[in-house]
Amino acid sequence: MKNTVLTFAKAKKEGTRISMLTVYDYSTASLMDKAGINSLLVGDSLGNVMLGYEDTISVTMEDMIHHTRAVSRGAKDALVVADMPFMSYQTSVYDAVVNAGRLMKEGRANAVKLEGGKEVCPQIEAIVNAGIPVCAHIGLTPQSINAFGGHKVQGKTEAAARKLLEDALAVQNAGAFAVVIEAVPYKLASLITKKLDIPTIGIGAGSGCDGQVLVYQDMLGMFSDFTPKFVKKYASIGEIMTEAFKKYDAEVKDGSFPSEEYTYKIDDDVIEKLY
Ligand code: KIV
Repeated sequence: MKNTVLTFAKAKKEGTRISMLTVYDYSTASLMDKAGINSLLVGDSLGNVMLGYEDTISVTMEDMIHHTRAVSRGAKDALVVADMPFMSYQTSVYDAVVNAGRLMKEGRANAVKLEGGKEVCPQIEAIVNAGIPVCAHIGLTPQSINAFGGHKVQGKTEAAARKLLEDALAVQNAGAFAVVIEAVPYKLASLITKKLDIPTIGIGAGSGCDGQVLVYQDMLGMFSDFTPKFVKKYASIGEIMTEAFKKYDAEVKDGSFPSEEYTYKIDDDVIEKLY
């Protein structure tokens, strides 16, 4: 059954947890969909893990649309959420609606996600009013990495914790159907979760959230440039890939690949006529 924003609301009401993973391509999206993951996030983390940038700042609308379209084709049941990249919504409410519309129309997303609290509520309200579901994102919001001065846990002082709680309530009131909470102490994330009627999706925010999200290359051990404390490695696919690449390289070089079973045949009398 297709997961929708109603599935998220029902999960919150019934206390069922929501699974979300980032993904950027068709074949991985199909695997996650078949595994029963509720929601696929085409994160702008694609800037880091797919495109090799050191942050998400350079990711464009075209990048997001291209990858969202691929993921949408692989997602039969999962809800596809597409990230709005840096400067696609901060500039104005108008830009926010137009760009959210492009992610839906051209990318075939089911919802969009944008970063920020109170300051982006006019954008959230306008996008929701255009009939587009919005997932908010508070705490460590990677597009503001330059303002934060690095990847730092958010909400540790009383003032910062209070601001995060206020931001969470504000994005809910603006119409967000869910909120991602990133790199926030688990007691604060749990408190925010209790105070909200919409589900919270945690990443580095502990088990008190209504759901969890991880970057898939992180959880599969495929990306080692930077591994935050909150990443659990569910497999070492990076090592398996490297071993396979090494084996292929050796077999190509010693001539053992491709052996007969991997080649096409032609009748000898046909080939002999060409000599
Ligand atoms: O872009 C992304 O992958 C995200 C997750 C970290 C939530 O926004």
